[in-house]
Amino acid sequence: RYPVICIDGPSGAGKGTVTWRLAQALKYQLLDSGALYRIVGLKAFEAGLVAADGIQAIDEMAVLALTQRLEIAFVPNNASGRVDILVNGEAVGEQVRNETVGGYASQIAVFPKVRQALLKLQQDMAARSGLVADGRDMGTVVFPDADVKVYLTASAEARAERRVTQLINAGQTADFDAILATIKARDDRDENRSTAPSKPAEDALLLDSSNLDADAVYAQVKRHCQD
Ligand code: CDP
Repeated sequence: RYPVICIDGPSGAGKGTVTWRLAQALKYQLLDSGALYRIVGLKAFEAGLVAADGIQAIDEMAVLALTQRLEIAFVPNNASGRVDILVNGEAVGEQVRNETVGGYASQIAVFPKVRQALLKLQQDMAARSGLVADGRDMGTVVFPDADVKVYLTASAEARAERRVTQLINAGQTADFDAILATIKARDDRDENRSTAPSKPAEDALLLDSSNLDADAVYAQVKRHCQD
């Protein structure tokens, strides 16, 4: 097996940036596991299986059937600093990254059968080359034997603040309180579900990025990889 580095943690803690930089520096593949759940969430929404308000009861078997039909591939995109996602050979638009779809993702991510259906695809990536894996359960469930595990957190307020800055920089409006509430709702669902809840592996380095910028986080994670 090739080396695996797991970067887990809640939304907005800065996993995406550090994962991308590590993958580039080490020439490893990048597994954006959240994108898998986002794609399933979006497809489930398009099929009428998930409601925007999160109140509708979801048919797990129908989401599973839809998940099993998806062929997903990741292609690094140097221009954007992220991976492009191909579903059944077609590029998925930026829509998959937005907060609404993040909410759909966390609704379908509670289902054990759906998680199981995505497990092998994730583990197979480590059979092909070194891997940096970004998610919630990389270190606890998907790669329990990983070489390096980091759990990157930050206060909900710091994460909401970053999101506001991001939106404003993108020329959009942003309501801090609404964003904070959304972040807390998603944290709550991800941390309290019974299957693969978001939590640090016992052997993970806990890193709080509330008062660290992206360079400082990267430096600390890199140092931990060398230890
Ligand atoms: O980018 P952000 O951190 O906001 O979210 P993401 O990593 O793209 O994940 C979206 C949602 O997918 C999370 O809120 C989780 O509910 C789910 N997810 C999961 O259950 N397990 C993973 N390994 C990754 C994501």
